Amino acid sequence: MAQLASSGTTVTLRVHRFSPKPARERDRARGSSPFARKASPFGDSPARTARRPRGKQWTQDYTLDVRGDETILDCLLRIKRTVDPTLMFRYSCGHGMCGSDAAAVNGTPTLLCKAKIADWAQPERVVDAEGFRRTVSETADAETTDVETAEDTANNAAAGLGVIELAPLPGFAVDRDLIADIDPMLEQIKRLKPYLIADGVLATTEDGKVDVLEYLQSPEQLAKYEALTTCIVCGACEGACPVYAGGEAFVGPAALINQARFIDDSRDEATYERLEAIDTADGIQACQSVRACSRECPVGIDVGEEIWQLIAQVREREA
Ligand code: SF4
Ligand code: FES
Repeated sequence: MAQLASSGTTVTLRVHRFSPKPARERDRARGSSPFARKASPFGDSPARTARRPRGKQWTQDYTLDVRGDETILDCLLRIKRTVDPTLMFRYSCGHGMCGSDAAAVNGTPTLLCKAKIADWAQPERVVDAEGFRRTVSETADAETTDVETAEDTANNAAAGLGVIELAPLPGFAVDRDLIADIDPMLEQIKRLKPYLIADGVLATTEDGKVDVLEYLQSPEQLAKYEALTTCIVCGACEGACPVYAGGEAFVGPAALINQARFIDDSRDEATYERLEAIDTADGIQACQSVRACSRECPVGIDVGEEIWQLIAQVREREA
């Protein structure tokens, strides 16, 4: 266990680590064994190969002094700068704007830069003699009814705020440690034309300048899609979705939110084509309305409800 020692409240970050095998070593290993996976005669889809990274996986604990109002990203940066430069994670803005640092915190997809230590630390759990996972104090209570000893008190103090488990964003292949490969999500979004498709006729003023007034919208028209423009493409909704799993069976909530943003925009002329494009077996038809996506959106978009509205629009178009 790596330890950042000194006094004060401590927390243990339990990080699921992954180091990929170098590509050449991987290819040699595959060719050398009669049991190695053979290439498909029909070719391997990039998604299938990308989702099976080979490499070394392990769990590593880092215990460090913290303040409860620090974020997990603050702690990871300290670890990287002072203890373990090999620890890999992704971030950019540091304050909830870029979406690049989404990861699983105690199994929940969220942004590392917004996750406060005090909100996520939980007591260490151990497997007791009966096979149940209990906190250390629950186990002690079950074993003895005596008053707390000085040793117990010291142990509890040493436990500090407890443990936070960190893993890469679920539903995606892992590049390294906490870095998920979000390319499949970005490809799905790109495939659905994430830009305004206007009628292409720019009105001009008498002196030949573009008449920007042509694109004014009423407050009501803006309100229809404004909240959807705040999506930072972090992928937390995809990580929470039990159907998404890398986008092979389902285009994913982030791509659908992106489409809703343009479908609800009165300036966009491609509503029918967009509804057609998402009305496929791996599109909106694959959504099971679980709505786990709504719980995890860091900018507060009700993703499940928006997708439900899209389903209604797809059905209306068919009627
Ligand atoms: S809808 Fe929310 S959770 Fe999903 S990618 Fe956008 S910001 Fe992230
Ligand atoms: S680092 Fe940009 S959203 Fe967290």
